[in-house]
Amino acid sequence: MNVVILAAGQGKRMHSNLPKVLHPVAGKALAQHVIDTARLLSPERLIVVYGHGGEAVRSTLAAADILWAEQARQLGTGHALAQALPQLGGSAQTLVLYGDVPLTTPETLKRLLQAGRGGLSILTVDLADPGGYGRIVRDGSGQVVSIVEEKDATPEQRAIREVNTGIMAMPTARLAEWLGSLKNNNAQGEYYLTDVVALAVDAGLPVRTAQPEAEWEVLGVNSKVQLAELERQHQRNLAERLLVAGVRLADPARIDMRGALSHGRDVFIDVGCVFEGGVELADAVEVGPYCVLKNVKVGAGTRIAAFCHFEDAVIGPDGVIGPYARLRPGTELGPEVHVGNFVEIKNTRIAAGSKANHLAYIGDADIGRRVNVGAGTITCNYDGANKHRTIVEDDVFIGSDTQLVAPVTVGRGATLGAGTTLTKDAPPGALTVSRSRQVTLTGWKRPAKAKP
Ligand code: UD1
Ligand code: MG
Repeated sequence: MNVVILAAGQGKRMHSNLPKVLHPVAGKALAQHVIDTARLLSPERLIVVYGHGGEAVRSTLAAADILWAEQARQLGTGHALAQALPQLGGSAQTLVLYGDVPLTTPETLKRLLQAGRGGLSILTVDLADPGGYGRIVRDGSGQVVSIVEEKDATPEQRAIREVNTGIMAMPTARLAEWLGSLKNNNAQGEYYLTDVVALAVDAGLPVRTAQPEAEWEVLGVNSKVQLAELERQHQRNLAERLLVAGVRLADPARIDMRGALSHGRDVFIDVGCVFEGGVELADAVEVGPYCVLKNVKVGAGTRIAAFCHFEDAVIGPDGVIGPYARLRPGTELGPEVHVGNFVEIKNTRIAAGSKANHLAYIGDADIGRRVNVGAGTITCNYDGANKHRTIVEDDVFIGSDTQLVAPVTVGRGATLGAGTTLTKDAPPGALTVSRSRQVTLTGWKRPAKAKP
Protein backbone atom coordinates (compact mmCIF):
# COMPACT_ATOMS: atom_id res chain seq x y z
CA MET A 1 0.00 0.00 0.00
CA ASN A 2 0.85 3.70 -0.08
CA VAL A 3 0.94 5.63 3.16
CA VAL A 4 0.18 9.35 3.12
CA ILE A 5 0.78 11.29 6.33
CA LEU A 6 -1.08 14.60 6.52
CA ALA A 7 1.14 17.04 8.38
CA ALA A 8 0.54 20.44 6.85
CA GLY A 9 -1.63 21.92 9.59
CA GLN A 10 -0.37 24.83 11.63
CA GLY A 11 -1.41 23.92 15.14
CA LYS A 12 -2.38 27.41 16.27
CA ARG A 13 -3.39 26.17 19.71
CA MET A 14 0.14 24.98 20.46
CA HIS A 15 1.19 28.65 20.75
CA SER A 16 4.64 27.76 19.51
CA ASN A 17 7.09 28.62 16.75
CA LEU A 18 7.81 24.91 16.35
CA PRO A 19 5.49 23.27 13.79
CA LYS A 20 2.97 21.11 15.61
CA VAL A 21 4.09 17.79 14.15
CA LEU A 22 7.64 18.39 15.43
CA HIS A 23 6.64 18.62 19.07
CA PRO A 24 8.01 15.62 20.96
CA VAL A 25 6.35 12.72 22.69
CA ALA A 26 8.89 10.56 24.52
CA GLY A 27 11.65 12.69 23.03
CA LYS A 28 10.57 12.01 19.43
CA ALA A 29 8.64 14.28 17.08
CA LEU A 30 4.93 13.46 16.76
CA ALA A 31 5.25 12.90 13.02
CA GLN A 32 8.33 10.72 13.54
CA HIS A 33 6.20 8.33 15.61
CA VAL A 34 3.74 8.15 12.72
CA ILE A 35 6.52 7.60 10.17
CA ASP A 36 8.10 4.85 12.29
CA THR A 37 4.75 3.07 12.62
CA ALA A 38 4.09 3.44 8.89
CA ARG A 39 7.44 1.82 8.11
CA LEU A 40 6.43 -1.28 10.06
CA LEU A 41 3.71 -1.78 7.42
CA SER A 42 6.33 -1.85 4.62
CA PRO A 43 4.52 0.61 2.34
CA GLU A 44 5.40 0.85 -1.34
CA ARG A 45 5.46 4.66 -1.01
CA LEU A 46 5.62 6.78 2.14
CA ILE A 47 4.52 10.34 1.47
CA VAL A 48 4.40 13.24 3.93
CA VAL A 49 2.21 16.22 3.06
CA TYR A 50 3.80 19.28 4.64
CA GLY A 51 3.03 22.96 4.66
CA HIS A 52 3.39 24.98 7.83
CA GLY A 53 7.01 25.17 8.97
CA GLY A 54 7.89 23.45 5.68
CA GLU A 55 11.69 23.48 5.76
CA ALA A 56 11.90 22.63 9.46
CA VAL A 57 9.52 19.71 8.99
CA ARG A 58 11.42 18.40 5.97
CA SER A 59 14.86 18.71 7.48
CA THR A 60 13.88 17.24 10.86
CA LEU A 61 12.08 14.24 9.40
CA ALA A 62 14.33 13.76 6.36
CA ALA A 63 14.97 10.15 5.36
CA ALA A 64 15.71 8.38 2.11
CA ASP A 65 12.40 6.54 1.99
CA ILE A 66 10.16 9.60 2.46
CA LEU A 67 8.55 11.40 -0.46
CA TRP A 68 7.39 14.95 0.10
CA ALA A 69 4.29 16.72 -1.14
CA GLU A 70 3.86 20.39 -0.38
CA GLN A 71 0.48 21.86 0.46
CA ALA A 72 1.19 25.58 0.25
CA ARG A 73 -2.23 26.60 1.57
CA GLN A 74 -4.23 24.46 3.95
CA LEU A 75 -7.54 24.13 2.17
CA GLY A 76 -8.67 20.98 3.96
CA THR A 77 -7.82 17.31 4.40
CA GLY A 78 -9.14 16.37 0.92
CA HIS A 79 -6.98 19.05 -0.67
CA ALA A 80 -4.03 17.83 1.40
CA LEU A 81 -4.31 14.27 0.10
CA ALA A 82 -4.73 15.60 -3.45
CA GLN A 83 -1.23 17.10 -3.20
CA ALA A 84 0.14 13.58 -2.79
CA LEU A 85 -1.66 12.17 -5.85
CA PRO A 86 1.25 12.57 -8.30
CA GLN A 87 3.54 10.62 -5.96
CA LEU A 88 1.26 7.66 -5.28
CA GLY A 89 2.50 4.25 -6.35
CA GLY A 90 0.31 1.70 -8.05
CA SER A 91 -0.64 -0.27 -4.92
CA ALA A 92 -4.31 -1.00 -4.48
CA GLN A 93 -4.67 0.72 -1.11
CA THR A 94 -3.69 4.13 0.17
CA LEU A 95 -3.61 4.54 3.92
CA VAL A 96 -4.09 8.07 5.26
CA LEU A 97 -2.54 8.90 8.63
CA TYR A 98 -2.35 12.17 10.55
CA GLY A 99 1.02 13.59 11.57
CA ASP A 100 -0.40 14.67 14.93
CA VAL A 101 -1.87 11.28 15.95
CA PRO A 102 1.27 9.46 17.14
CA LEU A 103 0.26 6.34 19.05
CA THR A 104 -1.74 4.20 16.65
CA THR A 105 -0.38 0.66 16.69
CA PRO A 106 0.62 -1.22 13.54
CA GLU A 107 -1.77 -4.03 14.55
CA THR A 108 -4.72 -1.64 14.43
CA LEU A 109 -3.63 -0.29 11.05
CA LYS A 110 -3.28 -3.83 9.69
CA ARG A 111 -6.85 -4.56 10.79
CA LEU A 112 -8.01 -1.37 9.08
CA LEU A 113 -6.23 -2.31 5.84
CA GLN A 114 -7.73 -5.78 6.01
CA ALA A 115 -11.22 -4.32 6.45
CA GLY A 116 -10.65 -1.99 3.51
CA ARG A 117 -9.76 -4.69 0.95
CA GLY A 118 -11.74 -4.07 -2.23
CA GLY A 119 -13.30 -0.90 -0.88
CA LEU A 120 -12.79 1.77 1.73
CA SER A 121 -12.32 1.49 5.48
CA ILE A 122 -12.45 4.01 8.30
CA LEU A 123 -10.90 3.75 11.73
CA THR A 124 -13.68 4.79 14.08
CA VAL A 125 -14.12 4.98 17.82
CA ASP A 126 -17.10 5.45 20.15
CA LEU A 127 -16.55 8.45 22.39
CA ALA A 128 -18.49 9.50 25.47
CA ASP A 129 -17.96 13.07 24.28
CA PRO A 130 -17.80 13.10 20.47
CA GLY A 131 -17.62 16.92 20.31
CA GLY A 132 -15.49 18.33 17.50
CA TYR A 133 -15.18 15.11 15.51
CA GLY A 134 -16.76 14.01 12.26
CA ARG A 135 -19.65 11.60 12.94
CA ILE A 136 -20.14 8.23 11.27
CA VAL A 137 -23.62 8.15 9.72
CA ARG A 138 -25.07 4.65 9.19
CA ASP A 139 -28.32 3.55 7.52
CA GLY A 140 -31.04 1.37 9.04
CA SER A 141 -29.08 -1.80 8.28
CA GLY A 142 -25.94 -0.45 9.94
CA GLN A 143 -24.08 0.30 6.72
CA VAL A 144 -21.92 3.43 6.72
CA VAL A 145 -23.37 6.04 4.37
CA SER A 146 -21.26 9.12 5.07
CA ILE A 147 -19.17 11.12 7.50
CA VAL A 148 -20.59 14.46 8.56
CA GLU A 149 -18.40 17.09 10.19
CA GLU A 150 -19.67 18.50 13.47
CA LYS A 151 -20.10 21.97 12.05
CA ASP A 152 -22.29 20.62 9.24
CA ALA A 153 -24.22 18.09 11.35
CA THR A 154 -27.89 18.14 12.29
CA PRO A 155 -28.72 17.89 16.01
CA GLU A 156 -29.58 14.19 15.47
CA GLN A 157 -26.26 13.54 13.78
CA ARG A 158 -24.43 15.32 16.58
CA ALA A 159 -25.88 12.78 19.00
CA ILE A 160 -23.95 10.01 17.20
CA ARG A 161 -21.09 8.84 19.37
CA GLU A 162 -19.16 6.91 16.73
CA VAL A 163 -16.58 9.30 15.30
CA ASN A 164 -14.08 9.42 12.49
CA THR A 165 -10.51 9.22 13.76
CA GLY A 166 -9.39 10.57 10.38
CA ILE A 167 -7.41 7.42 9.60
CA MET A 168 -8.71 5.69 6.47
CA ALA A 169 -7.69 3.13 3.88
CA MET A 170 -8.81 3.98 0.34
CA PRO A 171 -8.77 2.44 -3.11
CA THR A 172 -5.86 4.19 -4.83
CA ALA A 173 -7.34 3.85 -8.32
CA ARG A 174 -10.40 5.91 -7.37
CA LEU A 175 -8.62 8.73 -5.61
CA ALA A 176 -7.84 11.03 -8.55
CA GLU A 177 -11.48 11.05 -9.60
CA TRP A 178 -12.89 11.39 -6.08
CA LEU A 179 -10.51 14.09 -4.86
CA GLY A 180 -11.02 16.01 -8.10
CA SER A 181 -14.75 16.13 -7.51
CA LEU A 182 -14.69 17.39 -3.89
CA LYS A 183 -16.54 20.66 -3.24
CA ASN A 184 -15.88 23.14 -0.46
CA ASN A 185 -19.47 24.31 -0.05
CA ASN A 186 -19.59 23.39 3.65
CA ALA A 187 -19.52 25.19 6.99
CA GLN A 188 -15.71 25.50 6.99
CA GLY A 189 -15.20 26.21 3.28
CA GLU A 190 -12.74 23.29 3.12
CA TYR A 191 -12.22 20.35 0.83
CA TYR A 192 -13.13 17.51 3.18
CA LEU A 193 -11.43 14.17 2.68
CA THR A 194 -14.35 12.68 4.58
CA ASP A 195 -16.64 13.37 1.62
CA VAL A 196 -15.04 10.48 -0.29
CA VAL A 197 -16.97 8.10 1.94
CA ALA A 198 -20.29 9.06 0.36
CA LEU A 199 -18.62 8.80 -3.07
CA ALA A 200 -17.51 5.26 -2.29
CA VAL A 201 -21.04 4.36 -1.21
CA ASP A 202 -22.42 5.85 -4.45
CA ALA A 203 -19.93 3.80 -6.42
CA GLY A 204 -21.26 0.66 -4.72
CA LEU A 205 -17.96 -0.11 -3.02
CA PRO A 206 -17.98 -1.75 0.40
CA VAL A 207 -17.32 0.75 3.21
CA ARG A 208 -16.25 -0.90 6.44
CA THR A 209 -14.93 0.25 9.78
CA ALA A 210 -12.29 -0.96 12.19
CA GLN A 211 -11.70 0.02 15.80
CA PRO A 212 -8.50 0.49 17.80
CA GLU A 213 -7.82 -1.64 20.88
CA ALA A 214 -7.65 1.48 23.03
CA GLU A 215 -8.82 5.05 22.71
CA TRP A 216 -5.33 6.55 23.19
CA GLU A 217 -4.30 5.03 19.86
CA VAL A 218 -6.36 7.59 18.02
CA LEU A 219 -5.91 10.67 20.20
CA GLY A 220 -4.42 13.66 18.42
CA VAL A 221 -2.52 16.65 19.68
CA ASN A 222 -3.92 20.13 19.28
CA SER A 223 -2.64 21.81 22.44
CA LYS A 224 0.10 21.51 25.04
CA VAL A 225 -2.52 20.05 27.38
CA GLN A 226 -3.16 17.19 24.97
CA LEU A 227 0.56 16.83 24.30
CA ALA A 228 1.19 16.37 28.03
CA GLU A 229 -1.70 13.91 28.37
CA LEU A 230 -0.44 11.83 25.47
CA GLU A 231 3.09 11.89 26.87
CA ARG A 232 1.82 10.48 30.19
CA GLN A 233 -0.29 7.86 28.42
CA HIS A 234 2.66 6.77 26.30
CA GLN A 235 4.98 6.64 29.32
CA ARG A 236 2.43 4.50 31.18
CA ASN A 237 2.31 2.15 28.22
CA LEU A 238 6.11 1.91 28.06
CA ALA A 239 6.38 1.37 31.82
CA GLU A 240 3.80 -1.39 31.64
CA ARG A 241 5.81 -3.07 28.89
CA LEU A 242 8.86 -3.03 31.17
CA LEU A 243 6.89 -4.50 34.07
CA VAL A 244 5.45 -7.23 31.87
CA ALA A 245 8.98 -8.04 30.70
CA GLY A 246 10.12 -8.44 34.30
CA VAL A 247 11.70 -5.10 35.19
CA ARG A 248 10.82 -3.94 38.70
CA LEU A 249 9.82 -0.28 38.79
CA ALA A 250 9.41 1.51 42.12
CA ASP A 251 6.55 3.45 40.51
CA PRO A 252 5.47 2.99 36.87
CA ALA A 253 4.09 6.54 36.91
CA ARG A 254 7.51 7.99 37.66
CA ILE A 255 9.81 6.90 34.85
CA ASP A 256 10.51 8.65 31.56
CA MET A 257 11.69 6.80 28.51
CA ARG A 258 12.93 8.82 25.57
CA GLY A 259 14.65 6.15 23.56
CA ALA A 260 15.16 2.41 23.57
CA LEU A 261 15.82 0.66 26.87
CA SER A 262 16.91 -2.96 26.74
CA HIS A 263 17.36 -4.99 29.89
CA GLY A 264 18.24 -8.34 31.38
CA ARG A 265 16.48 -10.11 34.24
CA ASP A 266 15.86 -8.71 37.72
CA VAL A 267 16.58 -5.13 36.84
CA PHE A 268 15.29 -2.54 39.32
CA ILE A 269 14.61 1.12 38.52
CA ASP A 270 13.75 3.56 41.28
CA VAL A 271 11.59 6.68 40.83
CA GLY A 272 12.29 9.71 38.67
CA CYS A 273 14.77 8.22 36.21
CA VAL A 274 15.09 9.42 32.60
CA PHE A 275 16.40 7.10 29.88
CA GLU A 276 17.45 8.63 26.59
CA GLY A 277 18.87 7.21 23.37
CA GLY A 278 19.98 3.59 23.60
CA VAL A 279 20.38 2.28 27.14
CA GLU A 280 21.26 -1.31 28.01
CA LEU A 281 20.92 -2.58 31.56
CA ALA A 282 22.26 -6.10 32.06
CA ASP A 283 20.95 -8.63 34.61
CA ALA A 284 20.36 -7.42 38.17
CA VAL A 285 21.34 -3.83 37.53
CA GLU A 286 19.84 -1.40 40.05
CA VAL A 287 19.26 2.22 39.16
CA GLY A 288 18.64 4.51 42.13
CA PRO A 289 16.23 7.44 42.21
CA TYR A 290 16.55 10.47 39.92
CA CYS A 291 19.21 9.27 37.52
CA VAL A 292 19.58 10.38 33.90
CA LEU A 293 21.12 7.82 31.53
CA LYS A 294 21.72 8.62 27.87
CA ASN A 295 23.37 6.11 25.52
CA VAL A 296 24.77 3.98 28.30
CA LYS A 297 25.61 0.30 28.74
CA VAL A 298 25.62 -1.05 32.28
CA GLY A 299 27.08 -4.46 33.12
CA ALA A 300 25.39 -7.11 35.21
CA GLY A 301 25.03 -6.57 38.92
CA THR A 302 26.10 -2.94 38.92
CA ARG A 303 24.39 -0.70 41.46
CA ILE A 304 23.82 2.95 40.63
CA ALA A 305 22.86 5.14 43.58
CA ALA A 306 20.71 8.29 43.48
CA PHE A 307 21.23 11.41 41.35
CA CYS A 308 23.67 10.15 38.75
CA HIS A 309 24.08 11.56 35.26
CA PHE A 310 25.66 9.40 32.55
CA GLU A 311 26.07 10.06 28.85
CA ASP A 312 27.82 7.93 26.19
CA ALA A 313 29.42 5.71 28.78
CA VAL A 314 30.05 2.00 29.29
CA ILE A 315 29.99 0.64 32.83
CA GLY A 316 31.28 -2.82 33.58
CA PRO A 317 29.68 -5.50 35.75
CA ASP A 318 29.48 -5.35 39.55
CA GLY A 319 30.25 -1.64 39.70
CA VAL A 320 29.18 0.62 42.52
CA ILE A 321 28.43 4.08 41.17
CA GLY A 322 27.11 7.23 42.80
CA PRO A 323 25.35 8.91 44.42
CA TYR A 324 25.99 12.11 42.45
CA ALA A 325 28.37 10.63 39.91
CA ARG A 326 28.78 12.17 36.48
CA LEU A 327 30.06 10.03 33.62
CA ARG A 328 30.62 12.00 30.44
CA PRO A 329 31.19 10.78 26.87
CA GLY A 330 33.99 8.32 26.39
CA THR A 331 33.92 6.87 29.90
CA GLU A 332 34.62 3.14 30.04
CA LEU A 333 34.62 1.47 33.41
CA GLY A 334 35.81 -2.11 33.85
CA PRO A 335 34.37 -4.66 36.27
CA GLU A 336 33.98 -3.81 39.97
CA VAL A 337 34.86 -0.16 39.60
CA HIS A 338 33.62 2.18 42.33
CA VAL A 339 32.79 5.80 41.51
CA GLY A 340 31.50 7.92 44.37
CA ASN A 341 29.91 11.27 44.97
CA PHE A 342 30.91 14.36 43.03
CA VAL A 343 33.23 12.46 40.74
CA GLU A 344 33.29 13.55 37.09
CA ILE A 345 34.85 11.27 34.50
CA LYS A 346 35.32 12.04 30.81
CA ASN A 347 37.01 10.24 27.91
CA THR A 348 38.68 7.89 30.35
CA ARG A 349 39.14 4.16 30.76
CA ILE A 350 39.26 2.77 34.26
CA ALA A 351 40.21 -0.88 34.62
CA ALA A 352 38.89 -3.55 36.98
CA GLY A 353 38.67 -2.95 40.69
CA SER A 354 39.74 0.69 40.73
CA LYS A 355 38.04 3.28 42.94
CA ALA A 356 37.45 7.01 42.80
CA ASN A 357 35.11 7.51 45.68
CA HIS A 358 35.03 11.23 46.41
CA LEU A 359 35.29 14.61 44.68
CA ALA A 360 37.47 14.06 41.62
CA TYR A 361 37.83 15.09 37.99
CA ILE A 362 39.30 12.42 35.76
CA GLY A 363 39.50 13.48 32.12
CA ASP A 364 41.45 12.02 29.18
CA ALA A 365 43.03 9.35 31.34
CA ASP A 366 43.83 5.64 31.32
CA ILE A 367 43.62 4.22 34.81
CA GLY A 368 44.85 0.70 35.43
CA ARG A 369 43.58 -2.02 37.75
CA ARG A 370 43.17 -1.74 41.52
CA VAL A 371 44.04 1.96 41.50
CA ASN A 372 42.86 4.11 44.38
CA VAL A 373 42.11 7.67 43.34
CA GLY A 374 42.03 9.81 46.48
CA ALA A 375 39.51 12.50 47.29
CA GLY A 376 40.05 15.74 45.42
CA THR A 377 42.24 14.27 42.68
CA ILE A 378 42.26 16.31 39.48
CA THR A 379 43.69 15.48 36.09
CA CYS A 380 44.86 18.80 34.63
CA ASN A 381 44.16 17.68 31.08
CA TYR A 382 43.86 21.05 29.37
CA ASP A 383 46.64 23.55 28.87
CA GLY A 384 44.36 26.22 27.48
CA ALA A 385 44.79 25.02 23.92
CA ASN A 386 45.21 21.23 23.83
CA LYS A 387 44.05 18.19 25.79
CA HIS A 388 46.66 15.75 27.08
CA ARG A 389 46.39 12.26 28.51
CA THR A 390 47.20 10.98 31.95
CA ILE A 391 48.33 7.37 32.34
CA VAL A 392 48.03 5.66 35.70
CA GLU A 393 49.29 2.07 35.77
CA ASP A 394 48.01 -0.84 37.88
CA ASP A 395 48.04 -0.76 41.70
CA VAL A 396 48.77 2.95 42.01
CA PHE A 397 47.66 4.81 45.14
CA ILE A 398 46.92 8.49 44.55
CA GLY A 399 46.75 10.51 47.76
CA SER A 400 44.08 13.10 48.35
CA ASP A 401 44.14 16.49 46.66
CA THR A 402 46.59 15.50 43.95
CA GLN A 403 46.90 17.27 40.61
CA LEU A 404 48.18 15.25 37.67
CA VAL A 405 49.41 17.77 35.09
CA ALA A 406 49.10 15.94 31.78
CA PRO A 407 50.78 14.55 29.82
CA VAL A 408 52.08 12.49 32.69
CA THR A 409 52.46 8.82 33.62
CA VAL A 410 52.34 7.20 37.03
CA GLY A 411 54.22 3.90 37.04
CA ARG A 412 52.85 0.60 38.32
CA GLY A 413 52.54 0.36 42.07
CA ALA A 414 53.56 4.00 42.64
CA THR A 415 52.21 6.06 45.52
CA LEU A 416 51.57 9.78 45.20
CA GLY A 417 51.58 11.64 48.50
CA ALA A 418 48.58 13.77 49.37
CA GLY A 419 48.70 17.26 47.94
CA THR A 420 51.14 16.38 45.17
CA THR A 421 51.19 18.45 42.00
CA LEU A 422 52.67 15.96 39.56
CA THR A 423 54.33 17.61 36.57
CA LYS A 424 56.82 14.84 35.70
CA ASP A 425 56.32 11.06 35.42
CA ALA A 426 56.29 9.19 38.72
CA PRO A 427 58.44 6.02 38.70
CA PRO A 428 56.89 2.66 39.52
CA GLY A 429 56.93 1.26 43.01
CA ALA A 430 58.07 4.46 44.74
CA LEU A 431 56.52 7.27 46.78
CA THR A 432 56.48 10.54 44.91
CA VAL A 433 55.46 13.66 46.75
CA SER A 434 55.79 17.29 45.74
CA ARG A 435 54.77 18.93 48.99
CA SER A 436 57.09 21.41 50.74
CA ARG A 437 58.25 20.19 54.10
CA GLN A 438 56.04 20.83 57.17
CA VAL A 439 57.46 23.27 59.73
CA THR A 440 56.24 24.48 63.13
CA LEU A 441 57.20 27.97 64.30
CA THR A 442 57.14 27.80 68.08
CA GLY A 443 57.43 31.53 68.83
CA TRP A 444 54.69 32.49 66.39
CA LYS A 445 51.64 34.45 67.65
CA ARG A 446 48.31 34.93 65.98
CA PRO A 447 47.75 38.53 64.90
CA ALA A 448 45.46 40.33 67.34
CA LYS A 449 43.32 43.43 66.85
CA ALA A 450 45.05 46.64 68.01
CA LYS A 451 43.56 47.82 71.34
CA PRO A 452 41.81 51.23 71.12
C1 UD1 B 1 -10.67 15.79 10.76
C2 UD1 B 1 -11.82 15.06 10.09
C3 UD1 B 1 -12.85 14.64 11.13
C4 UD1 B 1 -12.19 13.78 12.19
C5 UD1 B 1 -11.00 14.52 12.79
C6 UD1 B 1 -10.25 13.62 13.69
C7 UD1 B 1 -12.01 16.04 7.88
C8 UD1 B 1 -12.79 16.97 7.02
N1 UD1 B 1 -12.43 15.92 9.13
O1 UD1 B 1 -11.20 17.00 11.27
O2 UD1 B 1 -13.89 13.90 10.53
O3 UD1 B 1 -13.13 13.48 13.20
O4 UD1 B 1 -10.11 14.97 11.76
O5 UD1 B 1 -9.24 14.33 14.37
O6 UD1 B 1 -11.11 15.42 7.43
N2 UD1 B 1 -4.28 18.84 7.43
C9 UD1 B 1 -3.47 19.16 6.39
N3 UD1 B 1 -3.91 20.09 5.48
C10 UD1 B 1 -5.11 20.71 5.59
C11 UD1 B 1 -5.92 20.37 6.69
C12 UD1 B 1 -5.49 19.44 7.60
O7 UD1 B 1 -2.39 18.62 6.24
O8 UD1 B 1 -5.40 21.53 4.73
C13 UD1 B 1 -3.81 17.84 8.40
C14 UD1 B 1 -3.57 18.42 9.77
O9 UD1 B 1 -2.22 18.78 9.95
C15 UD1 B 1 -3.95 17.26 10.69
C16 UD1 B 1 -5.01 16.50 9.91
O10 UD1 B 1 -4.83 16.87 8.56
O11 UD1 B 1 -2.86 16.40 10.92
C17 UD1 B 1 -6.40 16.79 10.40
O12 UD1 B 1 -6.70 18.15 10.23
P1 UD1 B 1 -7.66 18.93 11.19
O13 UD1 B 1 -7.78 20.32 10.73
O14 UD1 B 1 -7.27 18.72 12.60
O15 UD1 B 1 -9.06 18.19 10.91
P2 UD1 B 1 -10.33 18.23 11.80
O16 UD1 B 1 -11.08 19.46 11.49
O17 UD1 B 1 -9.97 18.00 13.20
MG1 MG C 1 -8.12 17.99 14.31
